[in-house]
Amino acid sequence: SWNMADYINEEIEAIRKQVGKGKVICGLSGGVDSAVASAIVHKAIGDQLTCIFVDHGLLRKGEAKQVRRTFGEEFNIPLIYVDAKERFLDKLSGVSEPEAKRKIIGEEFIKVFDEEAEKLENVRYLVQGTIYSDVIESGGTEKSATIKSHHNVGGLPDEMNLELVEPLHFLFKDEVRKIGEVLGLPEEIVWRQPFPGPGLAIRIIGDVDESKLNILRNADAIVQEEIRDAGLYKEIWQSFAVLPDLRSVGVMGDERTYGYPIILRAVNSDDAMTADWARLPYELMQSISNRIVNQVSEVNRVVYDITSKPPGTIEWE
Ligand code: XMP
Repeated sequence: SWNMADYINEEIEAIRKQVGKGKVICGLSGGVDSAVASAIVHKAIGDQLTCIFVDHGLLRKGEAKQVRRTFGEEFNIPLIYVDAKERFLDKLSGVSEPEAKRKIIGEEFIKVFDEEAEKLENVRYLVQGTIYSDVIESGGTEKSATIKSHHNVGGLPDEMNLELVEPLHFLFKDEVRKIGEVLGLPEEIVWRQPFPGPGLAIRIIGDVDESKLNILRNADAIVQEEIRDAGLYKEIWQSFAVLPDLRSVGVMGDERTYGYPIILRAVNSDDAMTADWARLPYELMQSISNRIVNQVSEVNRVVYDITSKPPGTIEWE
């Protein structure tokens, strides 16, 4: 295994050698890979690096703020924040089919990123947070047929003709996290559970709008907080809320309610290829359920998904 400090130093050398005085851009997604990749590159070449953070409005509560605070303020990396929420919501309006949503989000992301990148002059390099398992999975060539098309934010059209800088190429996920820690990135980023590029759009079943996003964001924030407080966040592969496209009857005080259920999903996994539903403690489930129905007014029911993968997938879309 690598000594992390040595790895960082070797990468810094290699990056300096590769890019010289050239201008470099990087797309931040909020995830650990792009965060660690940018932090290493910034350590190597300072403000020759500009990061672009496209906020598609499909992130969880507080995530966009955290990215801006960490990179823009604490690390002082030149950061372009693009508020593209309306663009994405407009494009997604009325679209309910999961693959159609992915396609729209993937294409729109590239468009927005591309527009921003073109405003910067003389950019020659693009940082990508590709890690070793991405390299293996893609067989070094094309991605094999997948059940769901995976749009990772950060892809760019070939016409831009940028040379790639890939400082995490030889690392496994746990090594990326160790390096993130050595570089002083916050724990919320370093230990973040996997989160899909299309974000909350594929955790809202059916069509997506601002009001559903708010319901899901509020419910999901409670799930995250409870799982963290129970000390289970790092141990569980992914834990999150899903908002389905249906409502049911409930009762609150003396009133009949007609509201959304929230689906709680938590799985254990090693690589996302297979997964087992997590045996969460009953007390934890109870407190998640109580808090969600009490604090998110549009929700009157919480159900737990006890399906493993296969036959279920981790996400609901
Ligand atoms: P499924 O739902 O197929 O998910 O069991 C496997 C893993 O992939 C993540 N996922 C995605 N990640 N873009 C991504 O970047 C996507 O479109 C996408 N769909 C699923 C999912 O969160 C899980 O970790």
